[in-house]
Amino acid sequence: MDTINWSDLSFGYIKTDYNVRSYFKNGQWSKPVAETSEYLDIHMAATCLHYGQEAFEGMKAFRGKDGKIRVFRMRNNAERLQSSCRGILMQEAPIELFEEMVMMAIKKNERFVPPYESGASLYIRPLLIGTSAQVGVSPANEYTFIIFVTPVGPYFKEGFKPTPMVILREYDRAAPQGTGTFKVGGNYAASLTAGDKAKKLGYSAVLYLDAREKKYIDECGPANFFGIKDNTYITPKSESILPSITNKSLMQLAEDIGLKVERRQVPVEELSTFEEAGACGTAAVISPILRIDDLSENKTYQYCKDGKAGPISEKLYNKLRSIQYGDEADTHGWVTIVE
Ligand code: PLP
Ligand code: COI
Repeated sequence: MDTINWSDLSFGYIKTDYNVRSYFKNGQWSKPVAETSEYLDIHMAATCLHYGQEAFEGMKAFRGKDGKIRVFRMRNNAERLQSSCRGILMQEAPIELFEEMVMMAIKKNERFVPPYESGASLYIRPLLIGTSAQVGVSPANEYTFIIFVTPVGPYFKEGFKPTPMVILREYDRAAPQGTGTFKVGGNYAASLTAGDKAKKLGYSAVLYLDAREKKYIDECGPANFFGIKDNTYITPKSESILPSITNKSLMQLAEDIGLKVERRQVPVEELSTFEEAGACGTAAVISPILRIDDLSENKTYQYCKDGKAGPISEKLYNKLRSIQYGDEADTHGWVTIVE
């Protein structure tokens, strides 16, 4: 603990003091308890292990200049976890339980919330899994809901510097009408091979196209996509992408600074018309895209010609971060202060 260099953190796991757990059994969720063990003791036939009954969330808490800790859009994450649970037939965690457990997890690990000056934050990872034994394919009747936290820095090593991404047409992440709109582990398992290939080729992420026609932009492996042109913020509408809370926030902030906002299908060819492009998410915040290579088509789309993020991406990034750290008024009611 004494050795954490806050300004040098990457997006990784660092052990903290406590995690918080609640168990669903006999039709009800237990009162949450704080645990020090990082391990779970579960049945070898648990549905999470065999049939992917697993959903998770990702959110962040920030320490402000005033020393206060702020959690960003907690309720939206609680609601999205419920949606993921409905998507793969798991027991939903009540919103109040989610919020109580997030608060407990932060307070119990307060010494791990990075200082304001570091630009780092506390990543909060809620996880809900089916734990009872089933050999036939059917949902569990017992569940474990656990929240752990870990201090993090930027997801992509470049931070807010432009980073290259790649289209690999031979891979899909999620099918239309499949589980792409839910935050479930299977989607990430499906992205590992392509992600690994992209990294080996020197890219920081894969930009997926719609799986049905390969005509439209879907999203990046761990983040949504947006493009900027003609004073307009444009982001894909698709039935196979995660409804990103960061993206939703950026659409609002874009409107606030006078941009038009379009959420619609984005044809791949439109990439050549954007003045700026970026990936957005809790972990990624905004990662400006330097270049997108569509490898099998032999096409390259170049942004950030001077190696710097575009002016609108920068403005949106600064605005979002200012609200998260409490430097700017939270006019949309996105922030919960940890009392
Ligand atoms: N898309 C995917 C596949 C993600 O894993 C994430 C991260 O949570 C996002 C988008 C961004 O969502 P959010 O802004 O809610 O973190
Ligand atoms: C997040 O942004 O919170 C994510 O979950 C992305 C990735 C770490 C899976």
